[in-house]
Amino acid sequence: MTTARTILGIESSCDETSAAVVVGGRDVRANIVSSQVKLHAKYGGVVPEIAARAHIEQIRLIIEQALDAARLHARDLDAIAVTAGPGLVGSLLIGVTAAKVLSLAFDLPLVAVNHIEAHATSAALAVDPPPWPAVALVVSGGHSSIYHVRGFLDMELLGQTTDDAAGEAFDKVAAILELGYPGGPVIDRIAQTGDPAAIAFPRTWLHEPHFDFSFSGLKTAVLYHVYGKGEKYGSAAHLSAQQLADVAASFQAALIEPLITKTVRAAQHVGAPHVVVGGGVAANSALRAGLRRACEEAGLHLHLTPIEYCGDNAAMIAMLGHELFQAGRLADLSLEPHGGLLRPPRHKRRKTRRGS
Ligand code: KG4
Ligand code: ZN
Repeated sequence: MTTARTILGIESSCDETSAAVVVGGRDVRANIVSSQVKLHAKYGGVVPEIAARAHIEQIRLIIEQALDAARLHARDLDAIAVTAGPGLVGSLLIGVTAAKVLSLAFDLPLVAVNHIEAHATSAALAVDPPPWPAVALVVSGGHSSIYHVRGFLDMELLGQTTDDAAGEAFDKVAAILELGYPGGPVIDRIAQTGDPAAIAFPRTWLHEPHFDFSFSGLKTAVLYHVYGKGEKYGSAAHLSAQQLADVAASFQAALIEPLITKTVRAAQHVGAPHVVVGGGVAANSALRAGLRRACEEAGLHLHLTPIEYCGDNAAMIAMLGHELFQAGRLADLSLEPHGGLLRPPRHKRRKTRRGS
């Protein structure tokens, strides 16, 4: 039995500044998330310079709030876990620098956490013991991937999007429909009054045996449906409220079907009894309901990440940081953020698809 360690998690990879205090990897004492979504809304997406500046303004306050909420002082901590990538380098740098400062000032070990791996394991924040081995579906604004998670520190990529991420497709379709940013929550809401079978949008690679996704064809199909065939520019103003709801529901249905089908098939392929789902799009109500149905039919145990931990948050960073810390996998003050490629370049993608 190992001692329960108190970890401060710091997350700043995109447009949320977050700090959390987690004891023993699961006991979340505080999880403060400050979203910049209002700052970016008028630009229709995250503006890196604005994001970095907002992180600088917020980071100290958010860390203090997390420590206060947990009724702790920095000297009570056992380690600092920070997102080192992938993400926006300017944003990551703020969290990494704050973590280094605390590490130096309070003589605390530093742990570097991979943001996507944290999303892939975030469901374990609400499941004890952790549900491994599992297949993890990670769907957010920057990534859409399927992993085989054998343990917190042992996971393998089985497939991923070769173009747009699922959340990115939600955001782009919301822009076409003039619904504002971010698009996921509003499409989720509007789709509830629409008919998911109204328009037969494409389900790319649904029946292909690999576990990769492609969503750019779906986005273009929505664009042509709304603006007219071959039209790149236009307006959604001619759509009635019901037509808008039908487009939203039909798009959402076409996007989630490959996610659900491939996740279940991947679990069967690797023989994993559990399915976990994380990332901002994991909050989508149709995806959650569809996965519940499909996993039940396939006899798989489904663990949906609680909504509060679906979007970017530091609790998942502290949890994975705890495992890395216990395994002695420490970083040091030479740690640098890695923006990384969210997706490998096209020539490498094929290999990933066929070779795994
Ligand atoms: O994980 P996240 O907060 O940030 C990234 O790491 O990207 O994910 C943000 C994405 C956005 O694209 C947003 O539109 C999407 O998650 N999202 C949703 C929902 N809530 C957020 N997509 C579909 N349905 C939702 N309810
Ligand atoms: Zn994320």
